[in-house]
Amino acid sequence: MKVSVHGCGYLGAVHAAAMARLGHDVVGIDVDAARVAALAEGRAPFFEPGLTALLAGTGGPGALRFSTDAADAAAAEVHFLCVGTPQSAGSGVADLQQLEAALAALRPHLRPGSVVVGKSTVPVGTAARLAAGLPDGVGLAWNPEFLREGHAVADTLHPDRLVYGVPDDGGEALVARLDAVYARLLADDVPRLVTDLATAELAKVAANAFLATKISFANAVAEVCEAAGGDAVALVGTIATAA
Ligand SMILES: NC(=O)c1ccc[n+]([C@@H]2O[C@H](COP(=O)([O-])OP(=O)(O)OC[C@H]3O[C@@H](n4cnc5c(N)ncnc54)[C@H](O)[C@@H]3O)[C@@H](O)[C@H]2O)c1
Repeated sequence: MKVSVHGCGYLGAVHAAAMARLGHDVVGIDVDAARVAALAEGRAPFFEPGLTALLAGTGGPGALRFSTDAADAAAAEVHFLCVGTPQSAGSGVADLQQLEAALAALRPHLRPGSVVVGKSTVPVGTAARLAAGLPDGVGLAWNPEFLREGHAVADTLHPDRLVYGVPDDGGEALVARLDAVYARLLADDVPRLVTDLATAELAKVAANAFLATKISFANAVAEVCEAAGGDAVALVGTIATAA
């Protein structure tokens, strides 16, 4: 399948290379010309175990190229949005400028029947708003990413779950398209959860909050152990085993 990936930072560079590894014909688009040049030469712009090998195409049947021109995504059937969504300076609000700009550059090149798939972490409601601005015949799904830095390649090629957020209208076709993209992962029995758009947007935020809650809980348990003379690591281990 022809796939484009918009935003080739941590998430996007790994995703683009992993999609090629899964056999897709991939073009990665980024506004940073130096980053595109490095990736095109097979150089990872940051250290991530396994990424250089993926960029070199070792063992992967798919094609992989990079460009600064969104027009080069025109032939793709699936367009992944992987740009940054940092917090705005001085407020806790997510800055969606990269997302808006990437979609504006892509919009003239979207063919009817192609789909846009958001992977960036966004505030709930963003996907429905972006979907409303797409041309007729172009669907939008949200497919949040749960990768961990330092394990990004492994987490992308062997995820512990795939989440597809789709709208009620046209959802089945979007699920089928994503199933085709991830066919090799699904064949390995990776669990796949289909939700509405809002739930998929919240999935990443909820996962981060759950991780923070677990860390806070482990710290509280450690304090109790220190006061009571218990072994915090052993105690947390007994809980993890029970769960
Ligand atoms: N880094 C992680 O571990 C991780 C994990 C899960 C989810 N995410 C989410 O993934 C998203 C991307 O994160 P990241 O760490 O890869 O960010 P990043 O800042 O490393 O990369 C963003 C890339 O997008 C490019 N870009 C900016 N504007 C663009 C445009 N208009 N068109 C094309 N490319 C453009 C930038 O040049 C940059 O290369 C964020 O929403 C983040 O929350 C990140």
